[in-house]
Formats: sequence, structure tokens, C-alpha cells
Amino acid sequence: MYFDYKEAVDYIAEIYKEADKPTVQEITDLSGNIDFDPVIEDEIARLFRVLLKSVKPKRVLEIGLSIGFSTVHIAKAIKSFGGNLITLEIDEEIAKVAKKNLEHFEVADIVEMRFGDAQELIKEFKSESFDVVFQDSSKRLYPVMFEECLRVLRKGGLFLIDDTLFPVMTAEDDWSASDKAIHRFNQLVADGKLESTILPIGEGCTVAVKL
Ligand SMILES: C[S@@+](CC[C@H](N)C(=O)[O-])C[C@H]1O[C@@H](n2cnc3c(N)ncnc32)[C@H](O)[C@@H]1O
Repeated sequence: MYFDYKEAVDYIAEIYKEADKPTVQEITDLSGNIDFDPVIEDEIARLFRVLLKSVKPKRVLEIGLSIGFSTVHIAKAIKSFGGNLITLEIDEEIAKVAKKNLEHFEVADIVEMRFGDAQELIKEFKSESFDVVFQDSSKRLYPVMFEECLRVLRKGGLFLIDDTLFPVMTAEDDWSASDKAIHRFNQLVADGKLESTILPIGEGCTVAVKL
């Protein structure tokens, strides 16, 4: 059976238009006229809310903050049961915008920002110290940081990764260095240390559990 993917996304977005607030558009408007790296789509924020309200994590690590769209949704989902979030970002200017957004949506109190290269920052965390790790930084870092992400995640914890499908759905000959990194990462994820799947929503989202 064939169907129009965009029509399906639009239908679902219409159904959830109140539940999805703040949407990507709303946070983009609130952030003013600035350049920033793309954020997760509304349908991925929706998926994260469902997963997080089920898992009820106490400690979440986000890698890649940008204007804080995903951060707001994760923080809102975990705040009511005492969860908190550490987010890593290399760009301190964009983090100033994110800070305002977190304050606006009243979640700044449970979010700690750490600045610098996530590859280095992650080494500061103890093994198995997070219930959820969300990787959404430079795609080049996905395979490079794979082992460290698993090290800091507890057994049974959730590993969420954005942008893992549609960028690599072109011919291999056309892959950029970033696409090659995503493909390498997907192979690592499927290799046995995790139970996982790649969902064809947004730009593709991997949902995995550490075994
Ligand atoms: C795709 S955006 C994050 C979007 C955000 N998770 C959201 O959905 O709202 C990626 C972010 O990762 C940051 N980043 C890229 N390389 C990084 C690194 N080596 N260490 C830390 N942050 C990095 C970028 O500056 C950018 O703001």
C-alpha cells in the first residue's frame, strides 16, 4: 500500500496541534532573527514526550543544544517526576538564545548547560550515570562518540539519536562525510550491544535500549 508521507505527517500534526506546543515554528519565532542548526521536528518531540513519560528518567544527557527546542520538550516531559537534564553545546552564542527559551518555558531550573567540545565533555561523566542519552550534535561525531555514549548510559537506558535515516537514503556515491558517519554509526548501533530501530519520522530517528 502506498501513501503520501507528507499528508500523513500533516494529518497527525493537525490532530496534535495543541499537545505539540511549543512547536518548532513557535520557538523559531521566539528566538528572533538568528542562524542556528536545525532542530528536531515536531513529530520527534512528540515521540520523545511519550518515551520519556514512560521511562521517567532522573538523569538525561543531551548532546547538541542549539536554540533548545528539544531541550524544552525533554525538560517539560521529565520535570514533574523530578528528572533533570545536562546539555552539551560548543557554541556559546546560540546557548544564550537557548537559555532565554528555557526560561520562557519555565524549565531552566532543571537544565544544566556545559560548554565545549562534547567529545571531551562527555569524558567527565561517570559510567552508567544517565538513564537517557540523546545524541544530536555534529553527525561526524556520531560514530566517534558511540562508545562514550554507551559508557555513560545505564543498562536498560534509552539511547535516542536524530537524523539517522533520510540523509543516507541517497546513492552511496553521493554521500558526504557526514552521511558516511551516519551510516557507520547505524552499523555500530545495529551490531548487538543495543536493541534498536530506526523510525522514518523527521530526518529519521533511532530509538535504542542498552542491553
Ligand atoms: C542539530 S543542532 C541541535 C538541535 C537541538 N537538539 C534541538 O533539536 O533543539 C546541533 C548542535 O550541536 C552543536 N555541536 C556541534 N558540534 C559540537 C561539539 N563537538 N560539541 C558540542 N556541541 C556541538 C552545534 O553547535 C549545534 O548547536
